[in-house]
Amino acid sequence: MPEHDRETERIRRIYDRRSRTAPPGRDAGCSWLCAQAGGDTLEVGIGSGRTLPYYPQGIRLSGIELSGVAMQMATRRAAELGMDASLRQGDATALPYPNEHFDTVVFCYVLCTIPDDRTAVAEALRVLRPGGRLLLLEHVRSPNQLVRTIERLAEPITMWRMADHLLREPLELIIAEDLEVVMLERRMFGLVERLVASKPEAEDLAQAV
Ligand SMILES: C[S@@+](CC[C@H](N)C(=O)[O-])C[C@H]1O[C@@H](n2cnc3c(N)ncnc32)[C@H](O)[C@@H]1O
Repeated sequence: MPEHDRETERIRRIYDRRSRTAPPGRDAGCSWLCAQAGGDTLEVGIGSGRTLPYYPQGIRLSGIELSGVAMQMATRRAAELGMDASLRQGDATALPYPNEHFDTVVFCYVLCTIPDDRTAVAEALRVLRPGGRLLLLEHVRSPNQLVRTIERLAEPITMWRMADHLLREPLELIIAEDLEVVMLERRMFGLVERLVASKPEAEDLAQAV
């Protein structure tokens, strides 16, 4: 099995296990993030459905999740909330949706976990409609030297336990994909990033060539 597939399989097993034991928890960042979704919305790595209560009424929500256990829990939670969400098991790096299908794509603490985060962002861009928005909440590499040193020391442990990268910079991937950053905010010594980016309209892309 190629190294990338082995790591994805390890992550699936970790989140099958963690979903059964980790408490759902509340997060002000998640409620900020999800409240901005509109229209046809995809959450990538939706986990056990912790974010579901934060979505506005009237959106059409789809979710993709690597862990079958987490996905079943999210499905149950959606039913309890009376939400008509379309949730399926799958891989963020090979999204089972057609091009330009969604108005909003949401990443909530997930790019830190996906081994090939670059392909996951490229896939998000593929399934976004021109003018659609990418919403992201993530813990990232801090610009504060002391905090970054702590992140560097802690990363081998978080990688082993949760496949959790602490030193990533999703902003670089988003800029590389020519998404337009609409809002960017860093909190907690630059450790937590909130970002809204939009996919250029087709005519903007044509002019840029
Ligand atoms: C830290 S959890 C966040 C879950 C959820 N977004 C939340 O905020 O509660 C990361 C999730 O990403 C999922 N994940 C990791 N790699 C993935 C991949 N390649 N495709 C889809 N989901 C993935 C994990 O199974 C896990 O549920």
